[in-house]
Amino acid sequence: MKTQRVLTGITTSGTPHLGNYVGAIRPTVRASRLAEVESFYFLADYHALIKVGEPARVQRSTLEIAATWLACGLDPDKVTFYRQSDIPEIPELTWFLTCVTGKGALNRAHAYKASVDKNTAAGDDPDAGVSAGLFMYPVLMAADILMFNAHQVPVGRDQIQHIEMARDIAASFNHLYGEHFTLPEAAIEDHVATLPGLDGRKMSKSYDNTIPLFAPREQLKKLIMGIVTDSRAPGQPKSTEGSALFQLFQAFATPDETSALAQAYADGIAWGEAKQVLFERLEREIAPLRAVYDELIKEPERIEKTLRAGADKARTIATPFTARLRHAVGLRPLQAIAAPSANKSSKGSGPVFKQYREPDGLFYFKLLDAQGALLLQSSGFKAPRDAAQAMTQLQRDGQAALAALASQIAICGEAGALDSALRFFSSPDA
Ligand code: TRP
Repeated sequence: MKTQRVLTGITTSGTPHLGNYVGAIRPTVRASRLAEVESFYFLADYHALIKVGEPARVQRSTLEIAATWLACGLDPDKVTFYRQSDIPEIPELTWFLTCVTGKGALNRAHAYKASVDKNTAAGDDPDAGVSAGLFMYPVLMAADILMFNAHQVPVGRDQIQHIEMARDIAASFNHLYGEHFTLPEAAIEDHVATLPGLDGRKMSKSYDNTIPLFAPREQLKKLIMGIVTDSRAPGQPKSTEGSALFQLFQAFATPDETSALAQAYADGIAWGEAKQVLFERLEREIAPLRAVYDELIKEPERIEKTLRAGADKARTIATPFTARLRHAVGLRPLQAIAAPSANKSSKGSGPVFKQYREPDGLFYFKLLDAQGALLLQSSGFKAPRDAAQAMTQLQRDGQAALAALASQIAICGEAGALDSALRFFSSPDA
């Protein structure tokens, strides 16, 4: 089994807040430490251009989010940590994917539909104020994910539709051009509650109710003192149900600490005192990270260097993969045409994988050479994506995959023919 690839991005449009930390940064940094995952974390700055029209803010946010990730313990030697706009293959892939994406599918994307509904309700033109960038958002996001053949994409619930669209786009491309892409899945942190903001609604930039993760100590304290509570007086028992203060505490505390606060609520702790307890608990976790953050942010050139190194690492995958995709879609050196195949085959110019379903309900694939002779035959897979993944593995890893998949495939042609067919996929221009 290949290592699981995990990939996620953060749009560089604002300052990281506690909700981002609890919902995304903390769990992904923890996950990146596991031995059996290969993680890709990036700053989605192309995405930022869709909503932010202020260049200085995009730049500032990129610095802040990069420093935050590093301060929270992301190890750039262990993961691939990069900035989207340092990978020119991403916009190229976006175009390839654009050409296999149904416009109707994009019409149904939540973010776009919400804008259209709002305009319609206001009696405006449905597309008033909607940029083509907003419309294309899901395709750019699909390119982020598919470029690195990620299996798992940790995201918030609001992003599930985007991952489903990435799967559909990948499947369309694979169907047309061969099995190049892994079909990604959303990884939702079920046990991480969405964090409430200062006003009790979900903590979100759009509600202007956030607590910046690295607000200076005094500002953090002031913000916490401003969290909404009910009007129960000191001494009166308080309900933990629906208490934003309690939910915030819970996101940082151990179960024991949480039950202690629940008991204090029942015993009628004063709101001011409860806020102080929350502040101290937050400070305990955040203060050491803030110290690192404050140092990092003073040295933007160091962060720049880290990101450039990350982009180099990412491009060791993106550059050859894009070369293969260019070939797959027909953007090829012209001299390949000058050398027609000896057998005057009416088939394509190289070997092909064919995926199909048998009456037994299982999914199979086979590899044929350019003349249609059988080179390799799979056994039946229960799920089409398992068959697709085995094909992707063969295309990517060639001979090495033959051994790994030995129990699921039968080699039919002679070994030399199979070897050169596999080489065709891993280095199509060779
Ligand atoms: N759309 C995501 C957000 O706003 C950010 C993002 C861009 C992303 N590309 C991605 C997340 C790829 C996961 C994978 O939260």
